Amino acid sequence: MGSYRDYYRRSVEQPQEFWGEKAALIDWHRPFEQVLDGSRKPFAAWFRGGLTNLCHNAVDRHLAARAQQPALVWESTEVDRSRSYSYTELHREVQRMAAILQRHGVEAGDRVLLYMPMIPEAVFGMLACARIGAIHSVVFGGFAALSLATRIDDARPKLILSSDAGSRAGRVVPYKPLLDEAIERATHKPAAVLMVDRGLHPMQPVAGRDLDYATERAAVGDAVVPCAWVDATHPSYILYTSGTTGRPKGVQRDTGGYAVALATSMRDIFCGRPGGTYFCSSDIGWVVGHSYIVYGPLIHGMTTVLYEGTPVRPDAGILWRLAERHRAQVMFSSPTAVRVLKKFAPELMRQCDLSSLERLFLAGEPLDEPTASWISGMLGKPVVDNYWQTETGWPILGIAAGVEALAPKAGSPGVAMPGYKVSILDESSGRPVPAGEKGVLAIDWPLPPGCMQTVWGDDQRFVDTYWSNFASAQVYSTFDWGVADEQGYVTILGRTDDVINVAGHRLGTREIEESISSHAAVAEVAVVGAADAVKGQQAVAFVVPRDAARTADAQGRTELAAQIMQTVQVQLGAVARPARVLFVGMLPKTRSGKLLRRSIQALCEQRAPGDLTTLEDPAALEQIRSALAEQP
Ligand code: PRX
Repeated sequence: MGSYRDYYRRSVEQPQEFWGEKAALIDWHRPFEQVLDGSRKPFAAWFRGGLTNLCHNAVDRHLAARAQQPALVWESTEVDRSRSYSYTELHREVQRMAAILQRHGVEAGDRVLLYMPMIPEAVFGMLACARIGAIHSVVFGGFAALSLATRIDDARPKLILSSDAGSRAGRVVPYKPLLDEAIERATHKPAAVLMVDRGLHPMQPVAGRDLDYATERAAVGDAVVPCAWVDATHPSYILYTSGTTGRPKGVQRDTGGYAVALATSMRDIFCGRPGGTYFCSSDIGWVVGHSYIVYGPLIHGMTTVLYEGTPVRPDAGILWRLAERHRAQVMFSSPTAVRVLKKFAPELMRQCDLSSLERLFLAGEPLDEPTASWISGMLGKPVVDNYWQTETGWPILGIAAGVEALAPKAGSPGVAMPGYKVSILDESSGRPVPAGEKGVLAIDWPLPPGCMQTVWGDDQRFVDTYWSNFASAQVYSTFDWGVADEQGYVTILGRTDDVINVAGHRLGTREIEESISSHAAVAEVAVVGAADAVKGQQAVAFVVPRDAARTADAQGRTELAAQIMQTVQVQLGAVARPARVLFVGMLPKTRSGKLLRRSIQALCEQRAPGDLTTLEDPAALEQIRSALAEQP
């Protein structure tokens, strides 16, 4: 181990040399010609000319040394089942899935959309796409028909892989009706829909379109499907995320850079041991699941645990019992999950033998100090906060204990990770602010390997969204506020845009507003994120009804609020449903008609509303205040 500071300095001052060396952590079918092609800034093409394959690196290359080692362990407390697949078995299943995709016309570059519960077939599907060079787009199972339809139209998948149902806290959640509705709403129609029938909910197959996975799997037998060698810059996947507009952005990731970045992070940050077990309790529908349930642990030759269930069922000891059962070396979860567990008696956790566990990683939302010290006290192991985004694919800030175990600083996810030239900039001048002052967390070009290549199908949107916030066109905005100390530890102070974070789920308030506006009784709406003790934030909607008489009494308000919540649930999914819907006669706006969201949010959190010099009508803020005080 050397000094992290020197290691980091080299990563940003000599990126070509640094990443050129890291590239040796993965297998290449043909070496790359150039480590970094920066001829089209702010785009960055890593390892151009090199041929590789993500599935080969995650599965095939381990067969020689790890044929019998479990690669994927599936645990479901929803359906009380578990299964384990060795690297050999995973290799076989992935080839079967790949053969099915090919049988139905999926070729390199085609998109395959996955709308799947947390079952092994979802992982087979992702790896099978990577194997044949198809581009997967996993849509979180908590999203509903409208969200799904938008993504179908943007990704234009040739095939959709789905299942009859998921299960949440013991309740069956049918997927097929939502999927059918989404396909009906979408303009683009997939040629085929491959359904994994779990026997949880009856399905009505659509003739000529729907395929049954078990039948198809039997038909392809022990298919042999070689890996397609693709250019390092070939897109591996699209993952949609929310931003300022109502239209989700397809974050497009490459192949070679992603594999190298994940392999590097597995050593430097997660300190994973090949042969050890990695247990990440996220969902494959989110970036954490892509990077640290599927690709990262497998690329590193670890056993990965795929968990279908909640942290509190059958009881609040389940995560720790799973960690004990599989001798987890590394765990990854979210601050919300830990805050939920904190409410339960700690005995269940204490009964578990967690001697195998070395570190618990938490990410996705701010980790508050009391939660961090409670869980590290309970475990007696380091708890490592880390900060990143769907866009980056792996941590921007953290502690790289694999290089040097710098002391953590309470309230901060840590320091800049290798390759990230992090700075804190003044919002208007774009100049770096002094240590201790708040500014926008920005990253200088180039983003390191593994980060997003572009917005799927829309290069201009990539440039306009991320690289046009400061005078220099070579600065990427994270849209997070941050403050750095003298030692380079950064503390995150929330988003600069209209993105909110509910239980670690990233949601765009605009998307929720658009859904609410579709209700006939709604004239105007503003959605903000308000602080919540367990979930970090919760969505609160302020609605101006078309007919004020309708919400004049408590009963009218309760009824309309319930309808509005239901509208969001049906269109976008339960994950986006606002926790409160309050009614007002008008919304606070500037004279030019811009909503004063920051002021509304401040009032929700019982803070002063801030600068009001541009406010058109102060009475509007009063209405927000009284709605908060008077309406449930
Ligand atoms: O606001 C930051 C917050 O989550 C956003 C990214 O969310 P998502 O794209 O879903 O990716 C999550 C990957 C872990 C960020 O812009 N965020 C993420 N991690 C942290 C965080 N806020 C504070 N502390 C963190 N550790």
